[in-house]
Amino acid sequence: MKGIILAGGLGTRLHPLTKVTNKHLLPVFRKPMIYYPIQCLLNAGITDILIVTGGNNAGDFLKLLGNGKEFGLKHLNYTYQEGEGGIAEALDLAEHFADGDKICVVLGDNLIEKNIKAAVEDFEAIESGAMVLLKEVADPERFGVPVIEGENILRIEEKPANPGSNYAVTGIYMYDNNVFDIIKTLEPSKRGELEITDVNNAYIEKGTLVWRDLAGWWTDAGTFESLLNAANMVAASGANNLE
Ligand code: G1P
Repeated sequence: MKGIILAGGLGTRLHPLTKVTNKHLLPVFRKPMIYYPIQCLLNAGITDILIVTGGNNAGDFLKLLGNGKEFGLKHLNYTYQEGEGGIAEALDLAEHFADGDKICVVLGDNLIEKNIKAAVEDFEAIESGAMVLLKEVADPERFGVPVIEGENILRIEEKPANPGSNYAVTGIYMYDNNVFDIIKTLEPSKRGELEITDVNNAYIEKGTLVWRDLAGWWTDAGTFESLLNAANMVAASGANNLE
C-alpha cells in the first residue's frame, strides 16, 4: 500500500499563525506537525509516501524533510496543489503516484496515539472498496459524522448541525484505485470544495465502505483549540515514537 499525506490548504482557521507558513509546518510540541502523519504511515509499515502540499510555502517542506533521511527513508515524493479545491481535489493529484495500488490517506493535521497497522493489514486483505477509521468525540459537529445502524454506516454527513452519532470520521482513509474515478464525478460542496465525505458516501452507495474503531487518542490540529490540544496530548503521552 502507498501512503499519501495531504498538507495543502491555506489554514485560514489559524490566522495569523498561517499567514507566513503552511499549517502543517507549525510546531506540535517538539516537532513540526507534518512529522506526525509521516510517522503514522511508517509505523504501519508504509514507506512509499507522497506529500501533497500547496500555497506559498511549499518549498519549505523540501527544506524540512528532504528525502526523508531523518525518518530512515531514501526518498519522499512531493506534488503541488494549485488553489484551494478541497481534500478530494488534493487527493486526485495522487493518481499517477498510486499507479493502481491501494492507498492510505492521512490528513496532515491529524495526530494519533496508537498504530493503525492492524487496520492497514485488514484493508490489504480486502479485495476492493474503502475503509474509514471512526473515533467517538465530544464535538462531532466539527467533523464528518457517520449515521450508523447496527454495524453499517448508512451515510456520512459533513459537519452536521444535528449529528447522527457521537463519532467522527477521522482523517485517515484507505481506498482502492476506484477512488480516482469517484473523485472525477464530484461536484463542489457549499464551501466550494470537493469533499472527502462525498467520496466516502460514494463507496457507501456501492456497499464497499468498511470501518474500524480507532484506538487511543486522536485529534486534528486545524483550530487554535485543537492545535493546543494536540501539543498537550503529545507532551503528555510521549506518543508517536518521535523521540
Ligand atoms: C476534514 C473532513 C472531515 C473529517 C476531518 C478530520 O474536515 O472534511 O470529514 O472529519 O477532516 O480531521 P476539515 O478539517 O477539512 O474541516
